[in-house]
Amino acid sequence: HTAFAVSGSKLTQKLRAKAFAQLLRQEMAYFDLPENHSGSISNRLSSEALSNQELLGARLGVICEAMATLGFGILLGFVFSWELTLIVFAYIICMFLLAFFQIRWQARLNKCSEHILGQASALATEVLHNMRTVKQLSIEYEILQQFSHLVNQAFTVRRNDTVISGLLLSICWGSQPFFLYILYWIVLVRLESNEMHDKDTLMVFAFVTFAFETLRFINTLTRQMGSSLSAARGFFDLFDRTPTIDNGSVDGRQLENFQGQIEFNQVEFSYPSRPTIRVLNKFQLTIEPGQWVALVGRSGCGKSTVIQLLQRFYDVTHGKVCLDGVDIRDLNIHWLRSQFSLANQEPILFDMTIAENIAYGKVNPSLEDIIEAATKANIHQFVISLPQGYETRVGAKGSHLSGGQKQRIVIARALFRQPKVLLLDEATSAMDSYNEQIVQRALVQAQTEDPNRTSLTIAHRLSTIHSCDVIHVLSKGHIEESGTHTELMQKHGLYYHMYVQTTIE
Ligand SMILES: Nc1ncnc2c1ncn2[C@@H]1O[C@H](COP(=O)(O)OP(=O)(O)OP(=O)(O)O)[C@@H](O)[C@H]1O
Ligand SMILES: [Mg+2]
Repeated sequence: HTAFAVSGSKLTQKLRAKAFAQLLRQEMAYFDLPENHSGSISNRLSSEALSNQELLGARLGVICEAMATLGFGILLGFVFSWELTLIVFAYIICMFLLAFFQIRWQARLNKCSEHILGQASALATEVLHNMRTVKQLSIEYEILQQFSHLVNQAFTVRRNDTVISGLLLSICWGSQPFFLYILYWIVLVRLESNEMHDKDTLMVFAFVTFAFETLRFINTLTRQMGSSLSAARGFFDLFDRTPTIDNGSVDGRQLENFQGQIEFNQVEFSYPSRPTIRVLNKFQLTIEPGQWVALVGRSGCGKSTVIQLLQRFYDVTHGKVCLDGVDIRDLNIHWLRSQFSLANQEPILFDMTIAENIAYGKVNPSLEDIIEAATKANIHQFVISLPQGYETRVGAKGSHLSGGQKQRIVIARALFRQPKVLLLDEATSAMDSYNEQIVQRALVQAQTEDPNRTSLTIAHRLSTIHSCDVIHVLSKGHIEESGTHTELMQKHGLYYHMYVQTTIE
């Protein structure tokens, strides 16, 4: 039993680690699916793995022991009276079949209740992550209603499961006295006709007692077995899943002397979760090495999507995206992503120190490099004003910092990595114009210092992209017009109107 218990917990630990590794390999579209929200996934990793452990641990030892007892009993029974043993054996098979159907039924119900509990878990995680918004909107009551509704639904499924379980268990246990009655009757008839001896009768009944004990035990475990089976299926489905973009792949080319040329060639793209809506349509864009390019357009026109496609978070539906003329689908995924640094629209910080956040992913980073990046991003003065300086923890998702401070740290992180291609997606949108100007100046200087770096900037505030080499205006899924700020203003097209509008605002 101890060996089973130890191997059970070891197996569960391996199962969890393998499941997590497999999750990390999955493509972004997998996490867009409602059943794969963070709450559902953490529920699966904790409770389903535990459910497996319950069966695979010490209980498996007890099951093996019971089955061995049953096997020994059958053998003994066959030796003393094979006809009677055959009858008992037939009964046992029927009971096992019943248990088998019960396990399958339980597995199905369990999958259903786990799905509902996964939704409840996803809701709870989302609420806990966005507690400020929940409080500000005063929607605690509505959320509680939603949560209670889901928990009640799960209860209803589990209640049905308990009732059915109980019924089947009653059939199993209730049928035993009747079966024993028939068995006694057959034995008595055979004793009277001298077809059987007293000694054999005793042995056969000893075997029947063994068998019934095993049956009782197996029956009490069917519920547990059902939930473990459904949990195991969930894990195996994940293990068998081949991601469309394998984030763990080590295959693919690494360009020896990457220049920084980017090309979107007749790209069409729809998000897998919304296949009918085409975000990019015949999208054509070429960025030359060392160019500083800006991408502008109305909200929701697909600018951030371009950046996601470039890093291969999603694959294009048609056409191709190339780096130095090579399709990114032929490139090594880690090499590809390591060429880019992204300062995002929604700055994401980890619950670590400021220094760790800036140098994230680099082993033994030098403090001078961290300070240099922080100075360029205009956050150094703020950091040294904190009692713990660069060792200050930023809280979950950077909740101890303001939006603009988070953005500046994310820009520092992007600059620290000294990428070949710098991607700035509304990277300064939460800053006041004073800070924005300082950061903009630093970014222009960084571009001048490293003329080999290609940069792609997305901005709503058009005043921040005047000095870019080329500005592309994205509309209806493709580039409507391109040129420098002066050329586009003279053209009196889309850019001109957007510019006039933002200036009036
Ligand atoms: N993961 C997703 N699944 C489905 N649709 C998405 C997803 N992400 C974005 N979209 C949709 O794709 C379209 C383009 O989104 P995108 O984020 O690229 O816009 P954007 O130009 O960056 O807008 P903004 O200026 O507001 O940031 C939008 O209509 C958006 O609703
Ligand atoms: Mg965007």
